Amino acid sequence: MYNSISNTGIIGKKIVYLPTCHSTNDIAAELVRAEGFEEGAIVITDHQTNGRGQRGTAWESRQGSNLMFSLALTPANVPIMQQFLLSQMVALGLVQFLKTIGLPASIKWPNDVYVEDRKICGTLIENSIQGNRISSCIAGIGLNVNQLEFQGIRATSLALETKKTWSLEEALDMIIKELNAYYAVLISGEFRTIRAHYLDNLLGLNETRNFRIANKVFQGQIVGINDYGHLLLLKTGTNHPLELDLKEVEWIWDN
Ligand code: BTN
Repeated sequence: MYNSISNTGIIGKKIVYLPTCHSTNDIAAELVRAEGFEEGAIVITDHQTNGRGQRGTAWESRQGSNLMFSLALTPANVPIMQQFLLSQMVALGLVQFLKTIGLPASIKWPNDVYVEDRKICGTLIENSIQGNRISSCIAGIGLNVNQLEFQGIRATSLALETKKTWSLEEALDMIIKELNAYYAVLISGEFRTIRAHYLDNLLGLNETRNFRIANKVFQGQIVGINDYGHLLLLKTGTNHPLELDLKEVEWIWDN
């Protein structure tokens, strides 16, 4: 599997396919520590026994139906204080892939990928710091591809959105191309481009929506993101945006 990937960029030069594993993020982290590691390796599987999501959640994905993979990167030029750029870069590559196939994709802060109001892809970015630099970034990606049913969650898949069954290999090939394009922008130091594209693709930017903080629901607008990746949220009737991290705020859907 996955030996027909046509990519020539940094990401995907080496692909490690495991029919099953605990978590591709954990295997990718082991690869980084192993001798002879080359940046850009991808670990991909059909089934995870301990798939991990954001904020300590589990990531469940139907065996063989979806893409579950992790990139192992060593982005030497990204300052620790701006490591959110890595999340932005990965989300942008995924959104760009979805747009290429005609889907109205966007990024739900901080780094989920949505098609309209349904999540199609989750990312788990785990950076290691040594001294004052990022020594490695493991970017885990779970994309719903051919799964047609989701119980109790607001989710969708490529098959549901495009009404066809996808070859996982073909989808991966296209995604790697877009990830490489955005990684090239990042490592060339064009941080402003990454930030601008992220805002251009941010779900709900400058729209009045409902949010919840500490059990209180209120209306407000997302007005930006700071360099640390905190959400700048302006409560209706106030003048100064709150700076919030992921655990502090919850997005409330209308339906
Ligand atoms: C989320 O939305 O909560 C993030 C989900 C990330 C899931 C992917 S699947 C491949 C990689 N390995 C993991 O254990 N998690 C990520």
